[in-house]
Amino acid sequence: MKMDTNQKVFGWCFIGCGTLAQKVAKQLLPSGQHKIVSVYSRSYDKCAAFAQRVGAAACHLPEEAMQTPGVDAVYVVTPHTSHFAYARQALLLKKPVLCEKPVTVCSADAEALVRLAREQQVYFAEAMWTWFAPAANQIKAWLDAGEYGTLRRFVLNCHVDARWYAPRVTNPNQAGGALLDMGVYPLTYMVRLFGKPDRGTCTGHVSKGIDWDEEVTFHYASGFTCSTSISIKDLLGMEYLLIEGDKARSCLFQFHQGGSVKLKRRQGKTEHVRGKCDYLNEFNLVANEIREDLTESRYVPMQVTLDVMAIMDECRRQMKLVYPFEMQ
Ligand SMILES: NC(=O)c1ccc[n+]([C@@H]2O[C@H](COP(=O)([O-])OP(=O)(O)OC[C@H]3O[C@@H](n4cnc5c(N)ncnc54)[C@H](OP(=O)(O)O)[C@@H]3O)[C@@H](O)[C@H]2O)c1
Repeated sequence: MKMDTNQKVFGWCFIGCGTLAQKVAKQLLPSGQHKIVSVYSRSYDKCAAFAQRVGAAACHLPEEAMQTPGVDAVYVVTPHTSHFAYARQALLLKKPVLCEKPVTVCSADAEALVRLAREQQVYFAEAMWTWFAPAANQIKAWLDAGEYGTLRRFVLNCHVDARWYAPRVTNPNQAGGALLDMGVYPLTYMVRLFGKPDRGTCTGHVSKGIDWDEEVTFHYASGFTCSTSISIKDLLGMEYLLIEGDKARSCLFQFHQGGSVKLKRRQGKTEHVRGKCDYLNEFNLVANEIREDLTESRYVPMQVTLDVMAIMDECRRQMKLVYPFEMQ
């Protein structure tokens, strides 16, 4: 999605300047459609080095970064355990917030943020980039239009070796583990495609304070069930979506970053929708929604975020997974 070139460049405050912040900055800045106005991270040296590279002001305090003149929205891109505090601070300052996934560690905190955003009438969205991209939305549109016919098979495997990505991924003190780091993608997919389940079941492998893999099944009153298999230590890294009915099928590798997708009909023409799942597309759409004065994203509605957070709470309850900072 391109932006109107007459539009003012959109100003971001980045809270966090780690692995993802750097990747996002690399996509946003060359576009000329976004600028990073201010940055905060706890280590001032790292913050200053990043700020210098991206032409932003390095700030000693998060509120200073959020209130820097020219900031149109705050992007929270820190480990999960700190999302709540930073997002809350920004919403209290009436700043629109795009907050990385998962928005919080537990559903009670997510509910509090959604309540606050509604009270403040400020935009608040989870940065679930998969759903800002065309592929996922197209699959949902095909499903809703009955293009697949009666569903026969649904496979959703989210197996990646994420251990190397950043130390937070396996750190229980930062709510690391498969469910919150990667599971949020397939669970959001299933909620978007089939709605919130009436019941969820989860079995997983927990050791060293985090979950390394799990199987989650959604059960619906109609008798329909769908499952996803999640892992952050699968060396083969198989990430695969298959949705197959008696009329058509789609399959997508690396579905959480899916751009293009095909609808292969049993009879009739194959339809091919081409697109990209990237951060620039996500930030363009979010900037436009904020310009429109929306308080909620069309692409990632707050209720979906809340439903997924409630499911993840339940999965953790069933796996008996409690993070150290939650223990009394
Ligand atoms: N959408 C996607 O494709 C995608 C991809 C990767 C990650 N993510 C999400 O993005 C978030 C950040 O991931 P990352 O891989 O960039 O993490 P990271 O590499 O560990 O970077 C975290 C950054 O947050 C800063 N920070 C600020 N306050 C902090 C606090 N209270 N505790 C810890 N760090 C704090 C850190 O700097 P200081 O230590 O100086 O504070 C650092 O700059 C996570 O929520 C993750 O799930 C999303």
